[in-house]
Amino acid sequence: MCGIVGHVGDEQATPILLDGLRRLEYRGYDSAGLAVHARDGIEIVRAVGKLRNLEKALLQEGLPGKVGIGHTRWATHGRPSEVNAHPHVAGPVAVVHNGIIENHLELRSELEASGFTMSSDTDTEIIAHLVHRETKEGHDLATAIRRSLEHVEGAYAIAVLSESEPDRIVVAKNASPLVIGVSQGATYCASDIPALLPYTNQMVFMEDGELAVLEAEGFTLTKLDGTEVSRRPRSISWSPVMAEKDGYKHFMLKEIFEQPRALEDTLRGRLDRENADIATPEIGLSDEDAKSIRRVILLACGTSHHATIAGRYWIEELAKVPAITELASEFRGRDAVVGEGDLVIAVSQSGETIDTLMAAKEAKKRGAKVLAIANVNGSAIPRMSDASFYTHAGPEIGVASTKCFITQLANLLMFSIWLGRRRGAIDNAQAGELVEGLARIPQVIGERLRITHLTISDIVRDFADARDVLFLGRGLGYAMALEGALKLKEISYVHAEGYAAGEMKHGPIALLDARVPVIVLMPKDRHYERVSSNLQEARAREARIVGVTVAGDTQGQALCERFVEVAETSEALSPFVMVVPLQLYAYCVADHKGTDVDQPRNLAKTVTVE
Ligand code: G6P
Repeated sequence: MCGIVGHVGDEQATPILLDGLRRLEYRGYDSAGLAVHARDGIEIVRAVGKLRNLEKALLQEGLPGKVGIGHTRWATHGRPSEVNAHPHVAGPVAVVHNGIIENHLELRSELEASGFTMSSDTDTEIIAHLVHRETKEGHDLATAIRRSLEHVEGAYAIAVLSESEPDRIVVAKNASPLVIGVSQGATYCASDIPALLPYTNQMVFMEDGELAVLEAEGFTLTKLDGTEVSRRPRSISWSPVMAEKDGYKHFMLKEIFEQPRALEDTLRGRLDRENADIATPEIGLSDEDAKSIRRVILLACGTSHHATIAGRYWIEELAKVPAITELASEFRGRDAVVGEGDLVIAVSQSGETIDTLMAAKEAKKRGAKVLAIANVNGSAIPRMSDASFYTHAGPEIGVASTKCFITQLANLLMFSIWLGRRRGAIDNAQAGELVEGLARIPQVIGERLRITHLTISDIVRDFADARDVLFLGRGLGYAMALEGALKLKEISYVHAEGYAAGEMKHGPIALLDARVPVIVLMPKDRHYERVSSNLQEARAREARIVGVTVAGDTQGQALCERFVEVAETSEALSPFVMVVPLQLYAYCVADHKGTDVDQPRNLAKTVTVE
């Protein structure tokens, strides 16, 4: 969602803030702004639209000063406009904020009744006025913020400047992410790690209910009630280069091509090839845990949810443990039956998605054990979980998830093998084949990436103008069909549906005609014959079939108008190879249409509001 950056140190703040905001662009935003302590007080520049508009405004105004905060806004309360853009100012106070203040209407009327005038429609401006009210009472900035936050309900990460304390930034958080970066002579804050990577890899992850005062020489961290907290910075292993485009036209394409490397990094040290097993310390649960699990509940949102559908199939197939998957937003919205004996696996690239976080917390409160599968080390979901099994995809910048998805698949399959081994559900030979197969997957995918890209670019020329696209698959292929459709919707704005091939007759078949491409996933698995019949049914309605077929499947290919080949793998490994052409299909359609591939309209990389 929105992005926050702050700098206090010896250098000029504006270039650092702009650079940080640029590195957060991928999170999605519709306006941006900066506030800097200049010689004669705090100066603010804001602009609607992309950061280049803010840069233009800055060229006119200039913004010299060494202490400042910056923000990219993704509208929740109040439309995207300059007035609603952050920072928000009240008296000597300037605030940037991520999250949502739930009781903002109540606070607004209270403040208006006591004579404060609001100039925006945002919930954030209320924080600025609350802090201003407290500073008028003579409190220093940190105390004023503490006292103000006592009235505030909801999610927030805030960074605040005050004209009377020009050498510091005060930050606080509840539910929305915030990290502090520490380097020699400068201290930073940001809502996400990549913003700070060029400046420092020493980061402190703030916890809910904490406040920190940032100064050039360092920071002091306290709870909101003032109790001191001591937390040492962690070293982050991501390099700034990992968050750059590296000659690719878009981050998404780069990240698709990075998948073999991301998988290698994720599998490294975890495949115990000698014992046909997965290394237990990496999973973080004990053998006793494995034996006592009665049910697995997989919770996630968006693309991560699609990974969990494959995860569910693997867990039931390989470990013979009942498993269900549910959208985190649905799970937390109802009175789900969950408790002791349940293992909740919360899957999230960012580790910060609010619905997944809250759903996992709720399940934990009711007695379930929680295992996090996340990509961002130290993020909120792993922090609240009993155990964490990280993916090592590196920073993912494209809003549409690709390399993180494929590494989530790897972790879910590794977990299933691990569980199956401990419960005696798979034998040495079967586990050995899976472990060896997984070890080869990065290479298998890498070998075909270029040719798949070329083939798909060619196919897309004939299909890019379609208004509706159907993706069909069965079993693990169904999960990939859902993901293929989501990718296409997200970045090319084409209406697409992922459907279980067997369900086509119960609805989507009515949509089919000669204008509708149907992308059929045809791994050589137990469903192959039935998927072929569904394909024939679609063909009989004149739909245009694009097959994702295994190499050399001439029988299947003969049924398709166009096809792309993937390597033949065992059934369990087929999602890894099947999803790559679907990612490239979405990418090539979007590129053909000229949409904003890395920052699709209205979407945010990490959804930290409800
Ligand atoms: C947003 C992103 C998606 C992502 C989803 C879940 O909607 O745009 O790409 O799949 O959030 O994010 P998470 O970080 O929890 O995996």
